[in-house]
Amino acid sequence: MIDRGEMQVLKKLLKIYKSSPVPESFVDLKGAGQRDPDTAAQWNRVGVSSLYELGPFRLDPGAGVLTRAGDPTPLGSRGVAVLTALVERRNEYVPKSRIIDAAWPDLVVEEGNLAVQISAIRRVLAQAPGGERWVETLARRGYRFVGPVLELAETPLQRSGDRSNLPEALTSFVGREGELAEIKQLLPGTRLLTLVGVGGIGKTRLALQVAAEVVDAYRDGVWFVDLAPLTDVKLVPSAVAQVLHIRDAAGKWFVDTLCNQIRARQLLLLLDNCEHLLDACISFADAVLGSTTQTTIIATSREPLQVAGEQIYAVQTLSLPDPAASAESIGRSEAVRLFVDRAQRQLRGFSLTPDRASVIAELCTHLDGIPLALELAAARIRSLSVGQINARIGDRFRLLTGGSRSALPRQQTLRATFDWSFDLLTEEERIVMRRLSVFPSSFTLEAASFVSSDEAIDENAVIDLLSQLVGRSLIIADTSNAGARY
Ligand SMILES: Nc1ncnc2c1ncn2[C@@H]1O[C@H](COP(=O)(O)OP(=O)(O)O)[C@@H](O)[C@H]1O
Ligand SMILES: [Mg+2]
Repeated sequence: MIDRGEMQVLKKLLKIYKSSPVPESFVDLKGAGQRDPDTAAQWNRVGVSSLYELGPFRLDPGAGVLTRAGDPTPLGSRGVAVLTALVERRNEYVPKSRIIDAAWPDLVVEEGNLAVQISAIRRVLAQAPGGERWVETLARRGYRFVGPVLELAETPLQRSGDRSNLPEALTSFVGREGELAEIKQLLPGTRLLTLVGVGGIGKTRLALQVAAEVVDAYRDGVWFVDLAPLTDVKLVPSAVAQVLHIRDAAGKWFVDTLCNQIRARQLLLLLDNCEHLLDACISFADAVLGSTTQTTIIATSREPLQVAGEQIYAVQTLSLPDPAASAESIGRSEAVRLFVDRAQRQLRGFSLTPDRASVIAELCTHLDGIPLALELAAARIRSLSVGQINARIGDRFRLLTGGSRSALPRQQTLRATFDWSFDLLTEEERIVMRRLSVFPSSFTLEAASFVSSDEAIDENAVIDLLSQLVGRSLIIADTSNAGARY
């Protein structure tokens, strides 16, 4: 029976497999150019004002000025407001009435006033090559801005006291004192630090912990970019730009734009899950390190990026106890601390009693001190005793992931488990989905396993597929009762 705790862990597991669907925000990015023309206006209304680079000019609607190479131009605030109305809706004709409403709010003005401002704008823009053609006239109707526009949204790091977007940890961080100290010591002299290790070993968690502890060392903050949901290599810079709120005119995102924007910033970027977009991450890191001097990257990846200047840091398993040691000494090992903490979250009374200590120690050792494996095991503690979990770990991850059937060496089994192919899953997913459609309304897990499993997809696999489908909102889980219904 799959319960809520297991469901959570499985979801996390699935996330590690990067098999979650592309979130909407990235779908938006893919539809570059279909950018909502009102976005800028909305931002302005909520107090987040954009800056625009128009060739050599910089338009600052918030301050009501247009500058050229840092020097003010003669364009007054009314002219700036007119220009802003056009630039916000660039490449489309903006009706005169709309421009007037934007530039002369609450005033009734003659169209002649608008014409005066338009010619003032054209005079100023003509200082740039081709600038005299940037504002087009649609006879009697309106105007259109067709010049180059680079939109620089003010980022949260420039604005409020916002210094990071690190996700809040929902569980406690265990151990790793040595690693934390070591990494913090390495960071100031490193431009790219890559935490390397198999899936589930704790790279992301360690990186987040480091990042949280060094927030104050980076003037412009630390920024977490989860690359796991990305499926398109071209979106790596976009993902970073989105986190930093940097965009350009067409809604497209380019490495150059991004590097320009962060050139003078002192940032720590945390690129999580680089392995499945390795080449894209390599070129991105190269570009960023080459064109900035104060931006540092922490990457997590199953393999190193192999970029010049990279400091590789291999993440080790959590420290293991000696099963023959005293309960007290067993309780000090990191693996045991993690297991016991997570087990307590499932079962409040759970503790490391002297009679349980050695079997817990064995279990943790059996699981190689891999944090994810420990969490998966702990998620079973309400239905199985530690001894039972231990006994079933023979076909270890199979129980939870329907993984490899053959007897691969330990590390490989784990790796194989974690390297599920997305394509393989979708095929099976479709099969399970089709089979589940025989249910007219909701169903239990047992019923689902019964109906959906066969020689090819066993019952354990059905559990996975089911939670996968739940993760994709194709199936809704009601876990409010002891036995989940779908
Ligand atoms: N030191 C730790 N303390 C507490 N939980 C940890 C620790 N390391 C890893 N975990 C947990 O183990 C799971 C796997 O870790 P994660 O960082 O996602 O692995 P990776 O990024 O290497 O795949 C996560 O749920 C994470 O919160
Ligand atoms: Mg990770």
